[in-house]
Amino acid sequence: MKKVLLLALVLVMALCASAYAKDVVIAFSQIGQESDWRTANTDDLRHAIEGHEGWKLVYDDGQQKQENQIKALRNFITQNVDYILFTGVVSTGWDEVLKEVNEAEIPLLLIDRIPDCADKIDYVAAFGGDFVEEGRRQVAWAGEYLKSIGKGDTDVNVVIMEGTTGASAQTGRTEGNLKALKEYPHLKLVGQQSGNFTRAEGQAVMESWLKSIDKIDVLIAQNDDMALGAIDAIKAAGKVPGKDIIIVGCDSVKAAFDSIVAGEMNCTVECTPLYGKFVVPTIEALIKGEKFSKTVVHPEEGVFDMNGGIDLGTVKSIKAADVIATRQY
Ligand code: AHR
Repeated sequence: MKKVLLLALVLVMALCASAYAKDVVIAFSQIGQESDWRTANTDDLRHAIEGHEGWKLVYDDGQQKQENQIKALRNFITQNVDYILFTGVVSTGWDEVLKEVNEAEIPLLLIDRIPDCADKIDYVAAFGGDFVEEGRRQVAWAGEYLKSIGKGDTDVNVVIMEGTTGASAQTGRTEGNLKALKEYPHLKLVGQQSGNFTRAEGQAVMESWLKSIDKIDVLIAQNDDMALGAIDAIKAAGKVPGKDIIIVGCDSVKAAFDSIVAGEMNCTVECTPLYGKFVVPTIEALIKGEKFSKTVVHPEEGVFDMNGGIDLGTVKSIKAADVIATRQY
């Protein structure tokens, strides 16, 4: 009898404890839904956080507007969430609101696009793309590929389609693109314009370039969505993408792999959206009281193309068709 009573008591205590155990609330201020990359990033983090026992996600889509993201961050403070995940549509203008996050003592995790004020605020960990290196790889791939087909000494006309103006993914990739162009003097820059990281704007910019620029040999598109939009414009103009115009994208989304395998895109430089595998163990460790350095962690990334084997110094390209079945996004 005594044993039964004891067991019942333990059971009641366990039930009470679980009823009162508070969920860990993780709020995420996302930029918007401009690209396949962004969708994959949202899905990955949603899945990682919501799939974790005892964790709850509060998600806000900023719809590409800084003011929406600022409002969301202030709402997170009012709700007194436990952790905030943040990536900003542009790199400047976050100082005030992120200081408010610090004053509210809510641990802040920076992901993807790291804001310019990062050195002036407190954050507990940061994971982001190495955008300058990605931009360098794009141009270096074009230069080395042309060498590999015996066109290393031929002058070719290059256009750079940039991402959202003022986003660190745009400023960083542009820096890397322009620096690398200096290494390949036969690559002549004849156009440079923003396509805002979207497929529709990529298509519109390419349409206008095809009307105003006599000859385009290489397109460097700072994301795959813009490259895919440009491919539609190139086809509509009666040209053959991947042959008449060499196309180098960035992100390595599934649609870019399909396009490379179909022979329409030539290369995609990887920028992984899969941050769940970094964020989850970090928050678990933070809960246990561990601390992290302020160094921004850059995930390891590859370069994928039609044939593989192009040496870019820091990495060698991989044939897209060989790995397409293993891709997660
Ligand atoms: O910040 C990452 C960039 O944002 C991706 O390259 C792009 O596709 C996205 O919109």
